[in-house]
Amino acid sequence: MDHHKDHPLQDFYRKIHARYDLVNRVFTFGRDRAWRRKAAAECLRARPVRILDLCSGTGDFLIELARQAEGPLELTGFDFSASMLDLARGKSGGLEERSGIRSLAFVEGDAAGMPFPNDSFDAVGITFGIRNLLYENSNAAQHMAEIRRVLKPGGRLVILESGRPGNVIWRQVNTLYLRLVLPFLGGLLSGNLAAYRYLSESSKNYHTMDEMGGILEKAGFGVLRSKPLFMGSVMLVVAEKRD
Ligand SMILES: C[S@@+](CC[C@H](N)C(=O)[O-])C[C@H]1O[C@@H](n2cnc3c(N)ncnc32)[C@H](O)[C@@H]1O
Repeated sequence: MDHHKDHPLQDFYRKIHARYDLVNRVFTFGRDRAWRRKAAAECLRARPVRILDLCSGTGDFLIELARQAEGPLELTGFDFSASMLDLARGKSGGLEERSGIRSLAFVEGDAAGMPFPNDSFDAVGITFGIRNLLYENSNAAQHMAEIRRVLKPGGRLVILESGRPGNVIWRQVNTLYLRLVLPFLGGLLSGNLAAYRYLSESSKNYHTMDEMGGILEKAGFGVLRSKPLFMGSVMLVVAEKRD
């Protein structure tokens, strides 16, 4: 399956999946978990039942949703990388037994054509995945349209993503860190320098929060809240599907 011939993404995640979590942890000084916790809390605030974790990867966001579950939840993780999903399944074993978890499923497929009926989900969350769907991606508009289609009217879309900080000095520190440290660290820990070089390269096209808001508005979402994390190196954006 090679949906994005102009993109090494699927191959990329197949190569690095085993060390993906470790690189995340080290690279973000362990902060990535706290950020996903915040994103999960935002996602659950409107009391959704059916939630899609889009670009689920190794499942950390879905697992966090399950941890915070109070009411009944039906969770679906969706990703086009079989090897990332295998890890997710392994990590989330036993979560189904938790009270509040009505169902938990991992589905393999491409975000450009999701196998879900219209208005399937009360909420969609996407953590560190939307850049994959937008950056130099010929399917970018289709990805946004698909997210909108599977989400119920008024349903929440919660996005956690790397961002371009507004502060000029911090932006430069951030860029240097991404350019110098990420390929080195990722290459060292995952054994795949080329893959992390690609990720580091794409970092210069990170969006600001305003740009992300613009993309969402254009795609038929209304932005409810945007929050910079780590001085804007990361952003948390909460939007809802407009009629
Ligand atoms: C950076 S990882 C994020 C994983 C996880 N959400 C997290 O917070 O760590 C991005 C994921 O997006 C998936 N992905 C990228 N493009 C995709 C597409 N078009 N359809 C489905 N999944 C995609 C990749 O396979 C990868 O697992």
